[in-house]
Amino acid sequence: MRNDPLDNPSRLNAVREALKLVSDGMTIGLGTGSTTSLFIRELALRVKKEKLRLDFFASSFATVHLAKSLGLTVLESSALGELDVSFDGADEVDPALHLIKGGGAAHTREKILHAASRAFYCLVDETKRVSVLGERTAVPLEVLPMARSPVIRKLQDLGAMDVELRLARMKDGPVVTDNGNLILDAKLPLADPPAMEESLARIPGVVESGIFALPHCHLAGVFVGSPDGVVYLKKEI
Ligand code: A5P
Repeated sequence: MRNDPLDNPSRLNAVREALKLVSDGMTIGLGTGSTTSLFIRELALRVKKEKLRLDFFASSFATVHLAKSLGLTVLESSALGELDVSFDGADEVDPALHLIKGGGAAHTREKILHAASRAFYCLVDETKRVSVLGERTAVPLEVLPMARSPVIRKLQDLGAMDVELRLARMKDGPVVTDNGNLILDAKLPLADPPAMEESLARIPGVVESGIFALPHCHLAGVFVGSPDGVVYLKKEI
């Protein structure tokens, strides 16, 4: 399990502030990861207490399982339409609010949900802020298995310093995503994250990259939690 403990006070502050955006009758998209798990747990408590009627779409098996286990109504992904709002964590956030996501290999479905949402809110703690995107994290790419070698060559053409096939921790062999694909983690030059996101989307066999920088990600803002409180950074469009 890669996730952080669920009692991280900084993230809890971000989660509690973001929860104020939820109101009765909404259809909500849920990301994946430890921050989203914290959000789901807090939201489930509110749903119970206030008897809220909410519908959810989830970005991974893990999120479906957690949300259902807490009594939330998770709809079939094939019924996905427009969402009122969506919530998710991130691995890195730069000053322009470009994101790297995909530490949990769920970024393809996350991007689909956020693109279908009127507004996507990202929840992080201060450790996720970087001055330059890619400072600490490689860019995850979900890749069709047959495309692995050709994609690696294209990534090298784009200036990749290093590309690694993500390996599973408790299973021999690679991580296989919820969609049956592989993950390549690529150290890429990210002076212009939207341009790189576009370039990656044009490589045959790349299902989706973990760069969330283009406007179609519908990022409205980022809640940055610290032990003392929370700062809301609004995305400038
Ligand atoms: C899942 O694939 C990711 O996009 C997560 O949203 C991201 O890795 C953040 O995860 P944590 O909230 O666990 O740090």
